[in-house]
Amino acid sequence: MFIVKIAQQQNAAALQVQGQVKDSAQIDLLKRKGVTAVVIDPAKQQVVALDIADSNGFTHASAVPAPPAVTLSARQSGKKTSMTQELAKAEKLYAEAKNLQKRAFRDISNGKTIDVADFRNCADGIIDSVFRNQDALLCMSRIRDKDAYLLEHSVNVSILMSIFAKFLNMEESVIEQLATGALLHDIGKIQVPDAVLNKPGRLTEDEFVQMRKHVEYSRDILQQTEGISDISLDVAANHHERLDGKGYPAGLTGEQISLYSRMIAIVDSYDAITAQRVYKSGQTSVKALKILLADSPHHFDPVLVKQFISAIGMYPPGTLVKLDSEKLALVLEHNPASLTCPIVKVFYHGSKRHYLTPVTLDLTNARCNDAINTAVDALEYKIDLKKFFNQFIMKV
Ligand SMILES: [Fe+2]
Repeated sequence: MFIVKIAQQQNAAALQVQGQVKDSAQIDLLKRKGVTAVVIDPAKQQVVALDIADSNGFTHASAVPAPPAVTLSARQSGKKTSMTQELAKAEKLYAEAKNLQKRAFRDISNGKTIDVADFRNCADGIIDSVFRNQDALLCMSRIRDKDAYLLEHSVNVSILMSIFAKFLNMEESVIEQLATGALLHDIGKIQVPDAVLNKPGRLTEDEFVQMRKHVEYSRDILQQTEGISDISLDVAANHHERLDGKGYPAGLTGEQISLYSRMIAIVDSYDAITAQRVYKSGQTSVKALKILLADSPHHFDPVLVKQFISAIGMYPPGTLVKLDSEKLALVLEHNPASLTCPIVKVFYHGSKRHYLTPVTLDLTNARCNDAINTAVDALEYKIDLKKFFNQFIMKV
């Protein structure tokens, strides 16, 4: 392509460029210099843009579609943050999302409708944070409150769907609809009788029938919600469908279930399996991922399950792990290059059963003589993970 000039550049020092760009290495160099959009002379070659979302009004790039490989959105080219920087924002977003859930449940019980714009804004905030640094919200989603499942579950599913869809390089407009649908997918639970919804234990067959109805309630509520998109409605209405037709409410099979609904089926189940409830401790992330693999291809799409594991890692941020040294550590940052070697915070001795001065360890570091042995349940060691997280991770 022939670049006429730089249309948009993040760095203060403006780069003067004009001429032929012959290969992707030169494009990469421009991107490293902070260039996010260029004006190209179509008469001299093809029009290719580094960013078609150009706030300066340049429309050259959209005249001829740019190859996706070099198209950067504002989110993709935006500033990335460290885990520590992002955690405070993530904590605020998470609390806001929980409050929004609470308000929506109250509104629906009072016969009011919900404003989908509130959920879209919330989903946008989640996606922004995921693009800046996905580990922060992922960590928040794993450090959970056993009494707040109803409020936290949909927020977690929205976070995980955003991370999953980003990993699959889906268009941002699609990610937004998926994240919004995920926030609303269980809204119908408010119409399930409290005695069934909050029953501390196994449901009877009759109670299970009542519980299953939440999906139809969600669909009905959302069909009456102005401005809801087809994709958001799809994931809410079909999140309990299974590939072998044994899901509900419609018993759809195989190709009848959209890619988006196959994704939310995985994410929804993962969060439910890992959730600590009043009446049961949550499974570790590794165990949950093994269950999902074992349940595919009957229930879940096996390719998507593997992609989901790659998106969050074997030991996602927020997971408590035991190292070979018997020390316990909280996983803080996922390392895309190695699913089993994240950055962790060591803080407890597993066999001596006492707390240690917290130390951050990068398990990919060649000088680090420790490795993850297994994921463990905090309850087994009587550790209050949320308290530790608030004291030693959030205050940093
Ligand atoms: Fe559900």
